[in-house]
Amino acid sequence: MTLEPVIIRPFADDDLVGTAAALVEVHHTDGYPVEGVEDPGAWIKSDVVLASWVAESNGRIVGHVAVMKPQGEAAVNLWIKQSGDSEDRVGVLARLFVVQPARKQAAGRRLMDSAVAYARAHGLRLVLDVMTKDAAAIHLYERLGWRKIGETLHPFGNGKTSPAVCYVAPTN
Ligand SMILES: CC(C)(COP(=O)(O)OP(=O)(O)OC[C@H]1O[C@@H](n2cnc3c(N)ncnc32)[C@H](O)[C@@H]1OP(=O)(O)O)[C@@H](O)C(=O)NCCC(=O)NCCS
Repeated sequence: MTLEPVIIRPFADDDLVGTAAALVEVHHTDGYPVEGVEDPGAWIKSDVVLASWVAESNGRIVGHVAVMKPQGEAAVNLWIKQSGDSEDRVGVLARLFVVQPARKQAAGRRLMDSAVAYARAHGLRLVLDVMTKDAAAIHLYERLGWRKIGETLHPFGNGKTSPAVCYVAPTN
């Protein structure tokens, strides 16, 4: 497939179907998210999303990222303990994915840039957790200067867990 340059723009409600289709594709190729994609729309759009962006190419949604309100995630708790920040100064970078044919064109990095710029403008420090198995994502975060703050077991499904690493965004 030949792809035109990727556009990054804020998520709009009528992107939901295309974003859900992209997520199902990523689950098929990468097993992300580990929770599965039974209801991809609800996983992408919810009350705890503060802001989100999509990557678009050839009129098709090829990627997504969100900044979310903390909901007791291990990365949030670790960061609050280490920094003394209050929870209302923390945001969670989540729901990052790019479909395989659109990868390695900086869509992932540019989606991250949008989330980081939003967090700076709103006085939020971003944290995230990433499954140890998601090597490309870990590589991207470290290349962008995110710092490892700990490890956890990400709970999902019926008592299952997946090893995960927690990161905090760089300050500059
Ligand atoms: C992680 C993920 C979002 C990265 O998306 P991406 O669009 O490929 O990211 P980027 O293009 O910004 O960077 C990826 C690589 O492409 C390279 N790249 C970027 N632009 C490029 C270009 N024009 N030409 C060649 N390579 C390029 C980057 O240098 C980087 O290489 P590196 O990993 O060797 O350093 C994607 O792999 C993904 O969706 N993975 C599955 C879901 C997942 O794990 N999500 C994370 C959840 S926490």
